[in-house]
This record gives sequence, C-alpha cells and structure tokens, in this order.
Amino acid sequence: MAIPKETIEEIRSRCNIVDVITSYLPELRRRGSTYKCNCPFHQEKTPSFTVNEERQIYHCFGCGAGGDVFRFIMEYDKIDFISAVQLLGDRVGVEVLFEGKASENQGSKEKLLNLHTDAAAFYHRTLLQSKEAEHARAYLRQRRLSEEIVKDFQIGYAPNEWDSLLKGAMQKGYSPEEIEKAGLVVVSDKLKKKSHYDRFRNRLLFPICDHMGRVIGFSGRALDKKDNSAKYINSPETMIFRKSRVLFAFDKARKTIVDKKQAIIVEGQIDAIRCHHEGLRQVVASQGTALTEQHAKFLKRYTDEIVLVFDADEAGIKAALTTSELFIAEELSVRVAILPEKEDPDSLICNKGVEVFQKILEQAPGALDYLIRVTTEKENIHSEVGKKRVCDAVMRFIQKSPSSVWKESMILRAAKQLNISAQALSKDMRRLPKQVRTERVEEKKSDHKVIPKVYPLEEIKVLQLFLVHHKEVRALIEEWLPYAYINDTDCRFLIEQLASQSIESFNAIRSQFSAGAQNCLSKAEIGLIRIDSDTTAIDLMKMYILNIWSHVLEQESKALSIEKRMDFNSTIRKPFDKRTRSWEEATAIMKNRLYEDK
Ligand code: CTP
Ligand code: MN
Repeated sequence: MAIPKETIEEIRSRCNIVDVITSYLPELRRRGSTYKCNCPFHQEKTPSFTVNEERQIYHCFGCGAGGDVFRFIMEYDKIDFISAVQLLGDRVGVEVLFEGKASENQGSKEKLLNLHTDAAAFYHRTLLQSKEAEHARAYLRQRRLSEEIVKDFQIGYAPNEWDSLLKGAMQKGYSPEEIEKAGLVVVSDKLKKKSHYDRFRNRLLFPICDHMGRVIGFSGRALDKKDNSAKYINSPETMIFRKSRVLFAFDKARKTIVDKKQAIIVEGQIDAIRCHHEGLRQVVASQGTALTEQHAKFLKRYTDEIVLVFDADEAGIKAALTTSELFIAEELSVRVAILPEKEDPDSLICNKGVEVFQKILEQAPGALDYLIRVTTEKENIHSEVGKKRVCDAVMRFIQKSPSSVWKESMILRAAKQLNISAQALSKDMRRLPKQVRTERVEEKKSDHKVIPKVYPLEEIKVLQLFLVHHKEVRALIEEWLPYAYINDTDCRFLIEQLASQSIESFNAIRSQFSAGAQNCLSKAEIGLIRIDSDTTAIDLMKMYILNIWSHVLEQESKALSIEKRMDFNSTIRKPFDKRTRSWEEATAIMKNRLYEDK
C-alpha cells in the first residue's frame, strides 16, 4: 500500500528536522550553522551527530548514519517507513491515507488493525447485551466498574465457547490464518487436522490500544475463581502488538502527561482505569511486564517526570528499583510511590478514596531517596560492611545517569543522608567498573570502535555537485560518466537516480532509499561544496570526471605487462593526467572506448 507522494511531502514540509530530533534528543545544541549532540546510534564522548536545518538532514561523522527526518524515526524507533510517516503525520496533523493496491505486508497490517477493531466491538457488544455475559456484568458491579467506565475503555466479554470469535470474524471475511496472525485464535493439531479455537474464553477483555488509540491486542481477566488457568491471558506479540513498547491507556493519557509533564505508571489495567475515572488522567499501566528501555525512551518524548506505583511486596520493590535505573538512564526524573502493604491503586482508591492515593503520589520520594530507604532497611547501616553495601548500591544507581550535573547532585544528596563525605563517595565511584549497560543498549551501541564507511572522495564530490547543480551537470554526467566507473555501490545508485529524473522527484523518493544509500547521501549533503567564482559547475564536474577516468585507467594500466604499460601510459593516459590533462583529448579517447568499441 502506498502513501501518496504529496502526503509525504506535506508531512516533510511541516516537520522541522531540528524540532523532531530535539524531541528525541533534548541535548541537541546549536553549534555554528548546524546542530550537534552525541550520536544515538553509537557510543561516543564527543558529539559527531550533526543536524543540518537548511538541508533538513542528519549525519553522524562517527558512524556514518544519516538521512532525512523519516529515516531518523525509522532508525531510532526501529520502525518501517510507512509507520514513520504515520507517526510524523500524527504529530503534525496530516492524515495518512493509502492509495493503490495493498502490498502484502502493509495490507495484512491494515487487516490486523481492522480485525482488532471488529473484535473489540464484538466483545464489547457481547458484554453489554448478551445474556451469557450476566455473570461478567455482575463481576463488574462487584468491582465497581460502572457502565460509563466499561464504555469508555470499551471493555468486553469473551463468551465461554471455543469458536464465537472465530465464527464471527470468518463471517466478516477474515480467514482463520489471519485471525491466528492476530493472536485471537490458537491452533491445535491434536486431531491430526489443523483446527483453530478462540484464545479468549469466558474472560473480561481489556482492549490494548497503540498511541493513536487503535486496538492492537487484548488482555483477558479470568472471571471464575475456580478457573485453573492464569488470572490474565494476553495477546501474543504480533506484527502490530509489541509489548516492549506498549503502555496501557497511553492514548488516553497522552494529553495530560504532556500538560502536567508527569506520567504515573501503575501495574494493572484496572488500576489505570480506576485512576482515569477518578480524574488522574496521566496514568498508564505496564500490564505486569517489565518496563524496557524503549518504554523509557518513548515516555521521554512526552514528559520529564515519572512516578512509579508498584506493589509494596519484595517483587514490587525490586521492580521499582530496576525500573528507576532504566528511566534515570534516559534522564527522566523518577519518584516511587509507597503503597500500604497488600493494596494496589484500585483497591486503595476503592477502600480509602482517591485523596489518600493522591497524597501518596505527592509524597512519593525521589528514586534515590527510595533506594537509600529500602537498602538501609535491609542492611545494618551502623556496621561497616552494611554501610559499604548501601554505598555500593547507591553508587551503582547514580552511575546510571548520563548527566554529570545530576550525578553530582545525587552524590551530594546521598552523602548527606549516609553521613559520609561527597568526596569519598565520588572517589569510590570512579573506582567502580565501567558502567554495565543494559542489554538493549549494548545491542544497539556496541562497544567496538565504529568506523564510518569511507567513500571514494571523487565520487562524493560528484554527488555533491550533482545535488546542487542538478540541471547544469546532468547531461554531462549522462554522456561522460559510465556508472560502472563508480566504485561505491551507494554512490553509484544515487548518481543513477539523480541522472534519471528531476531533482524534485529524486527528493520525493529519497526517504525510501536503503539505509546505506541514505547514509551516503547525508554524507554528501552535510559537506559544503564551494565553487570558486572563476570556475563553473561544468568545469568542476569535468575535473571530477577526469579524475574518475584517470583512476580507471590507472587500474587498467596496472594490469598490463611492463612494455605494454609504457605505451599505454604515454598514449592513452596522458590527457587524463593532472599535469597534462585536456578535456577535449580525453573525451576523444573516451568516446572511442565508450561508444565505438562495442
Ligand atoms: N498480569 C498478567 N498475567 C498474569 C498476572 C498479571 O498479565 N498472570 C498483568 C495484568 O496486566 C495485571 C497486572 O499484571 O493487570 C497486575 O497483576 P496483579 O497485581 O496480579 O493483578 P491486579 O491488577 O490487581 O488484577 P485485579 O485487580 O484484576 O485482581
Ligand atoms: Mn487489583
């Protein structure tokens, strides 16, 4: 499925690459005519990631990554081109409609989304209307989940049958394979014959939506206490449902999160739903799974502060600490709410009222204070070993912050509370083994030295000149620069693309070039091309072409025997030589070789 070129251009023109990248990398700073910061795609200490506002591109001199605003989103969020266009379209208020025939992948993604929309409506209708859902409605009453809440979150009920969804969806024209791909049915081949049955049966269903509010999965709560299976059953990972990215209720919470510059994270869907209905609209739920670096990066785009609300048991404390580190590493400020034992936000609000919960949120200590509090409760701070253990934990925590300013203020704060000097703490911190990065980071930013790809200088120059003086040099290139003479495949591809169309249509399709081609393109564009006042673009291009020919002939000469080489050099290569070159003579020779040999 294709997105019309005009839509892509519309979105591109409304997105300033500096603004977009700043929302991902707030540390981006103006340096002269460009913007710079540390590269998000490899590890470095001095910024070589560069954003050029005038050309609307980015390029990293350290690792060679580069491209336009769409490419950045694709790389950063690890999403495909279409999703990047949708995400940015969403941001600038341009609706993305598709045209033409659906490509296999996109079509099935659309279909998956439609199927989820239909399934959510089916389950919801069943809960509200069907007779067999009476016990589910009774359960809702008992849990104090009003009809208003049910409608607001489109809560549903999956009938206690093996094929109610399967049948319904097939009637709507979906194939069993598609329904299986969506994770809504499970395959069994027990009877030797492949058969499908509903994943969710006799469960209360909470639709899980993406950031745009589209249903992408479900979480199903058991209704029957005697039900031996899990209390919650969730949709599996699918093409559209990525657990490491989704936060329940984010679509509803986004606006408040941005306004209040705060996101509250609770564990369960019902907790989040309860909070929203009590007016706490900046709440999202992690749905019981561990939060990831992607979650942190995602939230970082919308807010500065996170309040974590986890259970007060040992698992909850551990989760609060590891999650805090994850968020600190993204320079988010984190506080941890301390709930009374055996309460979660839903039970607390129902039992004690929302004000009590709100108070707990307000009084939530910062993550560092929380860490000190829980570790000093566990260790004997008055023994030397105990004190050292507490300090070690504190240092490891502080080290997670990439900001020296934060680190320093945390050291001061911790020193005061632990009654030791800040100097001692920072001294010991320097002795800690280098920060062990979380797996995700390691996967993306390897510790190996990254070396950016090196392109033949001449070929990059041709590209630069071609980009800037497209109309003037196009005919020259078409006539005199055989593509086979261009060594680098990315340069060759780009030069061919430039030669085969207008600069406007080249620019319209560039976002869809391969990563390699876009890296190469950004490399060319980030460098300035200077033309002396007494040279023209044509003169310059002739010189580059002569240089490229000269390289080719040099290679050819090397392959010859000594006697033949002497002759070749003095007759053929002479007009190409830097000292003796002549465009006329050179083209006469090339003409023979290019056009008449064949
Ligand atoms: N969860 C899950 N699978 C389980 C248990 C829990 O996916 N087997 C997720 C659910 O998203 C759930 C969250 O973890 O909402 C928190 O679980 P838990 O604290 O056990 O349940 P509550 O949210 O308190 O559930 P309820 O209020 O419905 O009893
Ligand atoms: Mn609960």
